[in-house]
Formats: sequence, C-alpha cells, structure tokens
Amino acid sequence: MSATAIAFPNIALIKYWGKRDEALIIPQTSSLSLTLAVYPTTTTVSLLSESAPHEVLQDGAPMPQAAAAKVARFLDHVAELAGTTRAARVETSNAGPTGAGLASSASGFAALAAAASAAYGLDLSPRDLSRLARRGSGSASRSIFGGFAVWNAGSDDLTSYAEPVDDARIDAAMVLGIVNAGAKPISSRDAMRRTVETSPYNAPWVATNPTELAFMRDALRRGDFTAVGEISERNALRMHAAMLGAVPPVRYLTAGSMALLDAVAELRNTGLEAYATMDAGPNVKTLCRSAEAASVRDALAAAAPGIEFVIAEAGPGVSVSDHGVSVSGQGPTAIAGPGAPR
Ligand code: PMV
Repeated sequence: MSATAIAFPNIALIKYWGKRDEALIIPQTSSLSLTLAVYPTTTTVSLLSESAPHEVLQDGAPMPQAAAAKVARFLDHVAELAGTTRAARVETSNAGPTGAGLASSASGFAALAAAASAAYGLDLSPRDLSRLARRGSGSASRSIFGGFAVWNAGSDDLTSYAEPVDDARIDAAMVLGIVNAGAKPISSRDAMRRTVETSPYNAPWVATNPTELAFMRDALRRGDFTAVGEISERNALRMHAAMLGAVPPVRYLTAGSMALLDAVAELRNTGLEAYATMDAGPNVKTLCRSAEAASVRDALAAAAPGIEFVIAEAGPGVSVSDHGVSVSGQGPTAIAGPGAPR
C-alpha cells in the first residue's frame, strides 16, 4: 500500500544518446555507467482510492505540470501491470540539483519504479525493475544497480534492460564539477530526437558503439584504469559531437565546461590520471582512481576557483523499505526494519 525507495544517480562512461523506439524507450545503442554514492532521490508511493487522480509532490509542493504528467503516465503503467485503476500519491525529493545533467532523472525514475511497483504489490525481479525504470527515463534502468552497470539496448521491451557488470576490477570515483546547477535549456529527450533525426554524425555514433563498449568491458575486466578513462572521455566527446551536428545544433557545453576539460588534461600532464565526461548539461564529471579523488578535487579547485567540486564514490543500487527486491552485492537491497526510511 505504501513503500519508500532510495536510488542514486549514475553517470555513463559509454553514453546512451538516441532512441530507436520513443514510446518504449528502446535505445539505439547499449551503454555502461557507474552509479554514484551522492545526490540520492527518496520517493514514497502510497495508494489512494480508485477514483482519485494521482498526486505528485516534490519537496512537499506540487511538482511542475509537465514533470507531474510524466510521473502520472508512469503510475498508470504500473497500475495497469498490477491490474488495478487505483491512483497513487507520490512524494519525492532529490538531494542534488534537478534537471541539471546530474542524472536526477536516473535516480528519480529508479526510485519511483521501485517504490511504485512495491506499493502496487508487484514482485519484480531486478531485471524487470530495470525494464520498468527504463519506461520513465532510459538512464534510470541502470540506477537499479550499484557500481558499474550495462544497459543492453535489446530490440524490444523484454530485451532492453540493465544488469550489473560483475567483473570490473577498478576502484573508480568521480569528482563532480558543478559549472551550473540550473535546469538544462533543452531536455535530453528532445535533444536526442533532434540528433537522431538531423545529425549526419548520428549514424557513425551508433556504428562505433559495439566496439567501444567491448573495449570498455575488456578494460574494466583487466583493471586498466588508463584505458577506461581514455575510452570514457572520447565517448563523451563523440556524443557531444553528434549533438553539435544536429539542426539546429544542441550545445550543452559552455566556456566553463571547456575550461574544466583543459584543467583535467593538465592534471594528466602532471601525472594525476583524470578523465572528463559530460552529459546533457555543462557540468564536468572527472573520473579518477578512488584513492586519488581528494587530490584530483583539490587540483581542480585550485585550477577553477569559484566552481564547486563534489567527490562521488561508487554507490549502491536502489533500496526499498517493506518490499523484498533483493540481489546480493551490487543489486537492489531490501531495507525493511526499524531503521528503514518511511
Ligand atoms: O535517461 P535520460 O533521458 O535522462 O538521458 C540520459 C542521457 C545522458 O545522460 C546524456 C547519457 C547517459 O547515458 O546517461
């Protein structure tokens, strides 16, 4: 009847950019990410009576209309899976900035999928929870799992889901450089569509994905941090290149982003291994070895005064109070009991 879930954002090292099916959110390509231990979303879903409309609150106030409509559509889908027309009340809050290219939609829909499926009494496997989260936001499919996760593009609703990367042998962290915490000028959904429909660089972006993903998986397996970093940075730049080729161009990166890219390259020249990745916003996330995260943060803060830097270690998968979705290690964990958030 009521369940609370906590989910964390993830940042892709091999990016998802472009859908082949807009309604089901089936991506053109597979992607691979690291779930972070900062900026969780906490979401409670409680069932209401049959006839009521869904209620969607963010930080105690009604969620802005367009976002609330998206949540309501998602709840309709969950209710349909549960064979009911009962409405639900959603109360959600993000510990980090919303809509700023810091993966709030990933943590948001992962938490909503877990809380809603539990509240509606669906007993979903982690894979099915990942498929459900995908329907809200593609990247949310990966936040079901902790650590590194790969979202297999698949070809339909059943075959498009994320799963943990169990054989990664690197201890990575990210230093988040908050160039601008404001909401992005164009949603990733609209920007992706424009890229797919108009960018001459979309086809090569798609064509190079399988090899890049295979290189990445191999580098993770070998524990080759340098290769993981180099593949990540070029993958982010290629995604932005594909967007820049759209008509009209999609440009999320700003002068502040470029200054940070220079600062990260300079760190490498001084022997501190760091690699940049950027999503649908100007913020730059710097991948580094976990043991060197504090040094990387300090060096970047010295190079870019005025920008806030946050260290993010690898984080856990989604957790749900009072419902038993549970996978050992990197998967979702149940946290029922006296200490569980309600
Ligand atoms: O899931 P969405 O619609 O928020 O898209 C996320 C797209 C990127 O963050 C830019 C890349 C990714 O794979 O997370």
